[in-house]
Amino acid sequence: MAEKLRETPLLDELQKGPWPSFVTEMKKSAAKNPMANDQMGILERSYKDRIGHWKHGGLVGVMGYGGGVIGRYSDLPKEYPECSEFHTIRVNQPAGWFYTSEVLRKLCDVWEKHGSGLTNMHGSTGDIILLGAKTAALEPTFSDLTEIGFDLGGSGSDVRTPSCCCGQARCEWACYDTMGFTHDLTMHFQDELHRPAFPYKFKFKMAGCPNDCVASVARSDMSIIGTWRDNIQIDQKELNAYVKGGRVDIQEDVVDRCPTGCIKWDGKAFAIDNSNCFKCMHCINVMPKALAPGKDRGATILLGSKAPIIGGALLSSVLVPFIKMDEGYDDIHELAEAIWDLWGEHGMNRERVGEFIQRIGLGNFLEQIGLDPEPEMIMHPRTNPYIFFELDEEEE
Ligand code: HEM
Ligand code: HEM
Ligand code: SF4
Ligand code: SF4
Repeated sequence: MAEKLRETPLLDELQKGPWPSFVTEMKKSAAKNPMANDQMGILERSYKDRIGHWKHGGLVGVMGYGGGVIGRYSDLPKEYPECSEFHTIRVNQPAGWFYTSEVLRKLCDVWEKHGSGLTNMHGSTGDIILLGAKTAALEPTFSDLTEIGFDLGGSGSDVRTPSCCCGQARCEWACYDTMGFTHDLTMHFQDELHRPAFPYKFKFKMAGCPNDCVASVARSDMSIIGTWRDNIQIDQKELNAYVKGGRVDIQEDVVDRCPTGCIKWDGKAFAIDNSNCFKCMHCINVMPKALAPGKDRGATILLGSKAPIIGGALLSSVLVPFIKMDEGYDDIHELAEAIWDLWGEHGMNRERVGEFIQRIGLGNFLEQIGLDPEPEMIMHPRTNPYIFFELDEEEE
């Protein structure tokens, strides 16, 4: 039981709006837990001093693991002793973020017993984030987490906890089993996940279709996004129902918005030139009952996105245009390993794989990992209007 709640006049202001407030939640934890109480105090202090009072910490962790715990110390240990050590623990979330309420209760019990009781469900990495552990609490927390079936996630320069959309568990658009594949990657790359040995972090994110609900194209070094290579399925009866229903203006909402202009519609028949469709999902999203992804399904593998922390932001670009996902994942394991070998050897410290490719050039990169260039790999249309031919080609 905390002795007395910290005075927080500035934070209290944040409770006054009509919206829910994190301060209200923090006060509930602070009433039960001295660490959470001091954490609230130090946050109030930061608002007053207009400076953060957390330091990036030294190396802390659990035996045998290099990642999963991120060290945090406060620079005011005397004034806020309960949160002088306030490490973050990343816990590997279940694929697709499905839980039973029973296991959530157990997880919270472990965390109330050992830490501040504050969590971040879920972090941008996808993990369950337990905020605020003292150094001495790390091993006991880890051991109790293991007991209820959880493991730590990735942190630092390792494979980060793979994460995915709910895929076939709930979504009719999923073109492959994102959850199954995420589980496969997690188990296959346990060593890479727990023992940082790369130049920097490496993230896998899995999306079942090009809607990309996990934003993998912006947030992961390797995105595996479901797609199809045959024709979009059209149910003409359901399409007529949309026409009759009158809520969708097929010309304006669908045909005119197709980015490649590959849909033809004369008021009755709806036809797609599938060779020019680039699977943006727009038409399917607007008329989910009438249209669906094709039947020959698999995934596109993209590489290289990152947030703008060091250097600018990057989006992923296509590496493998199409791969079947129901015949085992050995090829993807090997591809990832080939990339790590090259980047591990020649990547600079804190250089993400996307930046590495920019530095050495895509041509060199492909040659080294043994992939052939494909037209889908372009990053953006060429802006240079001059086209040069080799002399002998011109003569032909
Ligand atoms: C005023 C209080 C706080 C606010 C409003 C806040 C807000 C946030 C937000 C918005 C994110 C990004 C979450 C996401 O995109 O999923 C985040 C991430 C995070 N925060 Fe906080 N935070 C607060 C306090 C703290 C404290 C006190 C700590 C630890 C000392 C902390 C540690 C973290 C960590 C470790 C992450 C990254 C989690 C991950 O993505 O893996 N936060 N926070
Ligand atoms: C001047 C202040 C700070 C700077 C410049 C800074 C910078 C960074 C950078 C560059 C990263 C790597 C992010 C990435 O590549 O995704 C990072 C990660 C992180 N930061 Fe900070 N940070 C600051 C303050 C803090 C504070 C005050 C906290 C917590 C109390 C914090 C918690 C974290 C955590 C938990 C991570 C994630 C580490 C990981 O993913 O392995 N940072 N920060
Ligand atoms: S990415 Fe596609 S398959 Fe996954 S949840 Fe979103 S819409 Fe469904
Ligand atoms: S998925 Fe996108 S590109 Fe393909 S037909 Fe529909 S709207 Fe056009």
